[in-house]
Amino acid sequence: MISGTSVDAIDVALADMYQVDDTLTLTTLGYLELPWPAAVRERLLAALPPASPGPAEWVRLHAETGEAFGAAAARALTELGPADLVVSHGQTLHHLVERGRVVGTLQLGDPARVHAHTGLPVLADLRAADIAAGGQGAPLASTLDALWLGDVPTAAVNLGGIANVTIVGTDDGPVTGDTGPANCLLDAAAADLGLRCDVDGALAAAGRVDEAALGALLADPYFARPLPKSTGREHFHAGYVRQMLGAATPTGPDLFTTLVELSARTIADVVRRHRPRRLVVSGGGVANPLLIQRLSRLTGLQPSDCLGLPAAAKEAYLMALIGWLSWHGLPGVARGPAGPVTGAARAAVLGSLTPPRAVADLAPAPTRLVVEAAGAGAGARSETGGGRL
Ligand SMILES: Nc1ncnc2c1ncn2[C@@H]1O[C@H](COP(=O)(O)OP(=O)(O)OP(=O)(O)O)[C@@H](O)[C@H]1O
Ligand SMILES: [Mg+2]
Repeated sequence: MISGTSVDAIDVALADMYQVDDTLTLTTLGYLELPWPAAVRERLLAALPPASPGPAEWVRLHAETGEAFGAAAARALTELGPADLVVSHGQTLHHLVERGRVVGTLQLGDPARVHAHTGLPVLADLRAADIAAGGQGAPLASTLDALWLGDVPTAAVNLGGIANVTIVGTDDGPVTGDTGPANCLLDAAAADLGLRCDVDGALAAAGRVDEAALGALLADPYFARPLPKSTGREHFHAGYVRQMLGAATPTGPDLFTTLVELSARTIADVVRRHRPRRLVVSGGGVANPLLIQRLSRLTGLQPSDCLGLPAAAKEAYLMALIGWLSWHGLPGVARGPAGPVTGAARAAVLGSLTPPRAVADLAPAPTRLVVEAAGAGAGARSETGGGRL
């Protein structure tokens, strides 16, 4: 389960996975795009950068997001089928990047709430271990893209709020990173008109690119930074365009056309450098015909659906894959020529498990605690397994 930077829906997918020799098979068992409870979504949007409502509201939203993800998981278990493990990404509250280094990241969505709804082990906090190892913690699509698409030189591009790219199957790959905005600035411009998004890219199709404005936006140093890199609403927030362009902000459809061009250009700049033979696109931006038309000039473009993963659900299936890898103690980030592609110094098994063990594993429970000083009894091990904690 995942909700991305757009906070548009909670995406849930059910997958069955098994490994024979070196091949992992992922069977897609179905997916749901579940609407957020309207009030929670509204408050989340009011709490995400650049807003900062303070710790009491963060705690409330951590609990309520956990409830929403828990209810989503319970519904998926009823409608799609049973599961052994739930992977719950939650909603990113803040992904803190300073001078290209990720200081930390915080996802809302209390996993204990998800466990309470499902009774299943819940893997959450998926980005922390990679960041602790010095990585960006995002994007996390690299293992899926490398395992699934790595036999052909490919750029896998996910068009969410933010656009991320993984290059696989080339001599210099795999590499990965967030290229910048896909839909987030378009959504912010649409919100100013009282719209949820520029539906089917209708406004973008009606305008013209404002070259001066585009040039000013392209001058953002983020775009020139090499991969790996990651970003989010902290940087590309609702006030970003006005902050960059001020009174020179295009109006009407021209703003939308210019923002589509910004997304397409910044994705293309990264993709071109690696000369892949195909472009596999996914995410909500697949529904924006102008964005797809601009990207299709690059190289053989196909939606991920053509290869078996629905564009709207690829990231939810990615969560399932990360769960399988972590459950088996395997790293969740692909290795590139210089180590994990997120820039981490070492490979990390992703996520934390709630509860740490199934309740049934814990019997027999003690009924009494004796405390003694180190010495005579120190180091004694009980039958059920002692140890230093
Ligand atoms: N019919 C449509 N026309 C235009 N844009 C659309 C349409 N449907 C979805 N979108 C865009 O796709 C966005 C949602 O895409 P998606 O769910 O992949 O992004 P996300 O949840 O932000 O994920 P990420 O974490 O990858 O950024 C919407 O906010 C909207 O901008
Ligand atoms: Mg989404």
